[in-house]
Amino acid sequence: MSAEPVVPLLDLKRQYAVLRPELQAAAQRVLDSGIFVMGPEGAAFETEFAAASGAKRAVGCSSGAQALTVALEALGVGPGDAVAVPAFTFLATAVAPIELGAAPILVDVSPDGLTMDAADLERRLTPAVKAVIPVHLYGRPADMDPILAVAKKRGLKVVEDCAQSHLGLYKGRPIGTLGDFGAFSFYPSKNLGALGDAGALTTASDELAVLAASLRNCGRGPGGHYDHPRVGHNYRLDELQAAFLRVKLARLLEWTQGRRRVADLYRAGMAGLPVGLPTADRPGDRQVYHVFSLRSDRRDALKAHLESKGVKTGVYYPDPLHTLGALRHLGHRPGDFPEAEKAAREALALPIFPEMTDAEAGRVVAAVRSFFA
Ligand SMILES: Cc1ncc(COP(=O)(O)O)c(C=O)c1O
Repeated sequence: MSAEPVVPLLDLKRQYAVLRPELQAAAQRVLDSGIFVMGPEGAAFETEFAAASGAKRAVGCSSGAQALTVALEALGVGPGDAVAVPAFTFLATAVAPIELGAAPILVDVSPDGLTMDAADLERRLTPAVKAVIPVHLYGRPADMDPILAVAKKRGLKVVEDCAQSHLGLYKGRPIGTLGDFGAFSFYPSKNLGALGDAGALTTASDELAVLAASLRNCGRGPGGHYDHPRVGHNYRLDELQAAFLRVKLARLLEWTQGRRRVADLYRAGMAGLPVGLPTADRPGDRQVYHVFSLRSDRRDALKAHLESKGVKTGVYYPDPLHTLGALRHLGHRPGDFPEAEKAAREALALPIFPEMTDAEAGRVVAAVRSFFA
């Protein structure tokens, strides 16, 4: 083990050291109000998050997973339907349709961006598929134009999984505004993280926003607390999390620039090495580097080497969805999604967070370079 201090994959304590007084004040404000769900903090956060995200409306939810479920339900997905999702993502993307009695249909990813491949989407569609969930994985916008073209041709609804891509831009357009809904996670480690679980939806449709707001709030209607025109869920964003998120949202652009600074240092420092670096921005894109993942066919040896140099790494994700026990019932076999399988063997995430110093990034670069020396 190196004598130098460890470079962590993520260090939330550095963020909280700076934000502590503001977060404590936000918590105090909620305690003093005596309102803990469906109050002014949640409403203000929805307005502020929609504005920051370039969206018309935002609807707070209790997690990203539940935001995905509410979006699909609002779009009419139910038992017997199917929803196309990438084979390489976090499992929650595929669980959302299952929650509604629908089936996930897995789609392979493109080798460059590791996001849903539109040609494979078209190949795998069945008449049961009602919606598609492209994932802006690692903070890199999925190539939405060809996906939106397939969706339009085949009459599919589109829910963007924006859990890893807050403030991302695709060809100049904010992610989360390209489909019917954007679903965001504020899990603590996300680019915008709560101090617990939280999530939100974005949409350009007032009608869908009202329906989603009802579905996440026990199916309530405009007639008050005991007006339940439909079956819904208790998937609300609470006031404490909303108040914390408001403090952090004010910093999100600056933090995103911090992530991009680290990514630039990595790209410059690792140019010429025999590793796959994340694909550069398309014109007008803004990747937000929730994860900075290298690709190497010697991934496990590289990981062990970096560990020995005090550099923490992660693997997102070690198994493509079709090989997980949770989705065994889909009946897939190894080989069915070759790009997802290759990504799962090769991807290695390096430390990245806004507060990381240039010196730490330099140590990571040196450690990677020394592996190939
Ligand atoms: C791609 C993706 N989708 C969905 C989720 C689910 O979000 P949450 O953990 O807030 O339920 C996550 C993160 O956890 C994610 O990374």
